[in-house]
Amino acid sequence: MALIFRTDAARAAAWGAAFQRQMPELDIRMWDAPGNIADIEFAVVWKPERGVLRGFPNLKAIFSVGAGVDHLFSDPELPEGVPVVRMVEPELTRGMTEYVVLHVLRHHRRQREMEANQRAEKWEMIEVPTAPSRKVGIMGLGELGRAAALALAALEFDVAGWSRTPKDIPGVESFHGDFGMDAFLAHSEILVCLLPLTTETEGILNTGLFEKLPRGASLINAARGGHQVEEDILAALESGRLSEATLDVFREEPLPADHSFWGHPRVTITPHNASLTDPDSAVRQVIENIHRIRRGEPPTNIVDPKAGY
Ligand code: NAP
Ligand code: GLV
Repeated sequence: MALIFRTDAARAAAWGAAFQRQMPELDIRMWDAPGNIADIEFAVVWKPERGVLRGFPNLKAIFSVGAGVDHLFSDPELPEGVPVVRMVEPELTRGMTEYVVLHVLRHHRRQREMEANQRAEKWEMIEVPTAPSRKVGIMGLGELGRAAALALAALEFDVAGWSRTPKDIPGVESFHGDFGMDAFLAHSEILVCLLPLTTETEGILNTGLFEKLPRGASLINAARGGHQVEEDILAALESGRLSEATLDVFREEPLPADHSFWGHPRVTITPHNASLTDPDSAVRQVIENIHRIRRGEPPTNIVDPKAGY
């Protein structure tokens, strides 16, 4: 029995050390030196090259290094019948909550404008309301959206969320499905996207959606670049429909050097680091699931291939 893993190069050593510490008997194979591929039963991967996973004949589960699994389902040759497990681990959730709270507060308190004023050595009194009078909308109330919504509700923001199915989250107004979308958007002065990227959500952050937000609303996208129509964001910023945007993810990553977002005065860019999987905590989840599979039980956090998340 062997496990193969592929993460970004910068974090591979930390993952290897975490496996070594927590399950030293595990036969770990590196992506570019898989050895006898018939031994490989588990794959822990981030953005594997298309078609490679299909080549492992005895694969029992595919674990995503990240919460998102779009990097797996975009592979037309993803082996059918092998469970795909998404990453749910407390540090990933905590990191995303921190990111969302930080940027919601920045938008809410107009911090970007005050920093611009400081650079211009300009003293201007900017009045900021307090949280209860600010409406925040979270698209996606799953593992990450729910935690972020709860943290904002604890600060007494007026929080709403939108998901496929109705939710009952204390302090958070729940909207769901196509039917609930317009009312949810009308509520969202600060809109946060934490949806998975699927065929249904691809390109969802577009002009049609921005027109349903209160005028001058702002956008935070910490989900996937594939959710956003980037020229529509630029147009909405130009027209004043959107006042500002904080973007962690982009259609093309790294963001190309000539992209208009870089120098835009009302766009804040972060390099797809809103939240990173913690190797120690993640390896714990993977090992627990390996034990479950060995006992003949299904792994936890399995993805529904039809829904794509
Ligand atoms: P999750 O637990 O699977 O939750 C997804 C949420 O989106 C659920 O509430 C789901 O509704 C809702 N949803 C899915 N499709 C929908 C649709 N068509 N209409 C309305 N709602 C829909 O996912 P998660 O763990 O919170 O992660 C969300 C995403 O964050 C990941 O997929 C990943 O792309 C992104 N992410 C980004 C970073 C970063 O650093 N930038 C880090 C981690 C994750 P139901 O609850 O009704 O099913
Ligand atoms: C990061 O983008 C993740 O999906 O965890």
